[in-house]
Amino acid sequence: MTVATVSVRDFRCYEAATARLDPDLTVVVGPNGAGKTNLLEAIYFGCTGASVRSTNDRELVRFGAVATRVVVRFVASSGEHELALAFAPGEAKRMTFDGAPVERLLDAPERPLVSVFVPDRLGLVKGAPGARRAHIDQLVAALWPARAGVRRAYSAVLAQRNALLARIRAGHATVASLDAWDQQLAGLALELIETRRRAVGLLAEPFAETGTLLGLDGELAIRYRPRSRARDAAAFIQELSERLPADLERGFTAHGPHRDELSITRAGREVRTYGSQGQQRLALLALLLAERELIGELRGTPPLLLLDDVMSELDGTHRAALVDLLRSHPGQALITTTDLDHVPEASGVSRLGVAGGRLLQSTDTAAA
Ligand SMILES: Nc1ncnc2c1ncn2[C@@H]1O[C@H](COP(=O)(O)OP(=O)(O)OP(=O)(O)O)[C@@H](O)[C@H]1O
Ligand SMILES: [Mg+2]
Repeated sequence: MTVATVSVRDFRCYEAATARLDPDLTVVVGPNGAGKTNLLEAIYFGCTGASVRSTNDRELVRFGAVATRVVVRFVASSGEHELALAFAPGEAKRMTFDGAPVERLLDAPERPLVSVFVPDRLGLVKGAPGARRAHIDQLVAALWPARAGVRRAYSAVLAQRNALLARIRAGHATVASLDAWDQQLAGLALELIETRRRAVGLLAEPFAETGTLLGLDGELAIRYRPRSRARDAAAFIQELSERLPADLERGFTAHGPHRDELSITRAGREVRTYGSQGQQRLALLALLLAERELIGELRGTPPLLLLDDVMSELDGTHRAALVDLLRSHPGQALITTTDLDHVPEASGVSRLGVAGGRLLQSTDTAAA
């Protein structure tokens, strides 16, 4: 699947623009404040219906405009398709697939998968475990869409159990009333743990290999560390009941896959605690690139990789390794940079110039 063009109207700094993407690598180049991140954000928004930077879609509407619209045209094995998204503050988003309304983009029969690197996402390797759990659950959803519901179902049952804990604590319910929820929670917890274990297991080798290809010294490793040792539902229920007094005191369930950790190490040490800025950046890149490879293998088409401002903290060797890797592996990618010199061999790649909130024409430098 390849994204061919992205057209925007009144999106952030853009009044009206159409960006044509290279099937392999596009470099978006321009000075600070030119509109590079905004373009990347528009592509992400058009493919996922969500913003990468903010949770408030209002910010996406150009100052002074009343609505924004993004249209993504892409080519899949079934032919050419068009996803369109319109948003006006105070109204629900409107989305169409090939002109027919869809409730959510998830319901579109086909849509490009996207993977994004923005500096904020470094929190994934250096921040709290919650971000890593959410990320691995998203990977699960990308690899096996049918299993995406397990995480949601688990969270729903967990919320019910927590509500019941509060009622028991207040004397409005009995401990016995937990049994039915614990049964359900155990089944879903084991399924979630098993699926995560599988996803991380598949990721481990490409992750280590990508780290090496990126020129990172010291082997990268990723390991899933579930809290629960349970092998079956009965054992999980037993673990829950051992912790019941503490749970009742706290008023929430402190045991289960919603508290699991995913550890990322380089040369045997946690990247979040011991990694340098550059190493953390490379570890995140290795993660996204390894996932891209895995999704490509399992789903037949790798996600579009959007890399914002990735070059600025990498040295020349690592920049060259990254560009080599992007060009030698299947999949479409887009990189933003303030400086073309940061992209080795830039003369051979498609460039998209941005200045003063406008797109300059897309230039194929081979022809220029
Ligand atoms: N809703 C909006 N309407 C109009 N302009 C906006 C809106 N939101 C942001 N901008 C402006 O868009 C401009 C470009 O921002 P963007 O983040 O895309 O720059 P950039 O090229 O990524 O710069 P840098 O290299 O510094 O990261 C900024 O001047 C910003 O203030
Ligand atoms: Mg930017």
